[in-house]
Amino acid sequence: MINPVANVADMAAYELADLQATLLSLAQNESAYPCSPLAIEAGRQALQDVHLYSDPDWLALREAIGSVHSLPVNQVLCGAGSMEIIASIIRAYSQAGDEVLGTAYGYLFVATACKQAGSAYRQAAEPLLQVDVDELIANVSDATRIVFVCNPGNPTGTRIPNAELVRLRDNLPGDVLLVIDQAYAEFDDQDPRAAFDLIERGNTIITRTLSKAYALAGQRVGWGAFPADIAVQVRKLLNPNNVSGVAQAMATAAMLDQKYMQGLVKKTAETRRLMRNTLTEQGWEVPDSHTNFLLMVLNSVEACRRLDSTLRNAGFLARGMGGYNLAHCLRLTIAKPEDMERVCTTINSASED
Ligand SMILES: Cc1ncc(COP(=O)(O)O)c(C=O)c1O
Repeated sequence: MINPVANVADMAAYELADLQATLLSLAQNESAYPCSPLAIEAGRQALQDVHLYSDPDWLALREAIGSVHSLPVNQVLCGAGSMEIIASIIRAYSQAGDEVLGTAYGYLFVATACKQAGSAYRQAAEPLLQVDVDELIANVSDATRIVFVCNPGNPTGTRIPNAELVRLRDNLPGDVLLVIDQAYAEFDDQDPRAAFDLIERGNTIITRTLSKAYALAGQRVGWGAFPADIAVQVRKLLNPNNVSGVAQAMATAAMLDQKYMQGLVKKTAETRRLMRNTLTEQGWEVPDSHTNFLLMVLNSVEACRRLDSTLRNAGFLARGMGGYNLAHCLRLTIAKPEDMERVCTTINSASED
């Protein structure tokens, strides 16, 4: 028998939603709406060039990102989803004997990436289902190499103000890397500049994705904004030609079509607001969300299972949160208004007890 390396043998496979074709998926935080028509047209044109390798420097895409976010192109790296960027950061800056510090309900893939790297993943409490900067600071040890914060959070949907991220950075040792995963930042109404400004300090990275607000989940495009010297190191771990030519073309056009993205975010946020109002008025506990999903907090695991199966019987697939130690919670991606109305009616016809 041929054995894999010990840390891989030890790992569980990354858990994805158990999708069923007959149900409307509210399980993966995909966009309710298609991507920009300009992205579709750009993708169509790029199909002519698929006999060639894609641009290994993602030049047009990096220029588009740089122009939208006022970032120097050499400080931006692109990945096959932000997952590739996250995993590469963790492999570049942690190994066996090191610790990566995240939060209780931080994005689960970070734990998987730490296993791949051989580093230990430790989690600071989120007492109010929200990142707590003091808990993070209290949990930093001599072994901590990276602090990982998802803001807004998945699966909580909550967020802390950027001033809190600045306070976190101020209170971390200078040689600890701070990574801020902003996969849902476009759905958050706070100005992102204060977070981007942290990059200039030389030890903070921001990651973003085209999978959510830009509606390109299937094309696998994410990016990160880095201090220049860290970008050089992380880039060594990205596969050459990691983002296909069609994906780069679509992502570039989508990034430049800010108006379309903002319209999509506005519609999604409005549906989210209406749904949360309807549910909380009926007495359900639903934390305020700054993302394209809502988290329902039930009063027991059993109540959660019952609601999940009521939703399935009505044709909707929610996402159970057992993997996050939140087995009494269900996460629901915001779909189109007419679907969410039916989801609300189904939920309100159920009782928690
Ligand atoms: C918090 C968070 N970060 C990162 C990702 C990864 O996104 P992608 O690899 O599609 O860019 C996701 C996807 O759901 C997410 O929820």
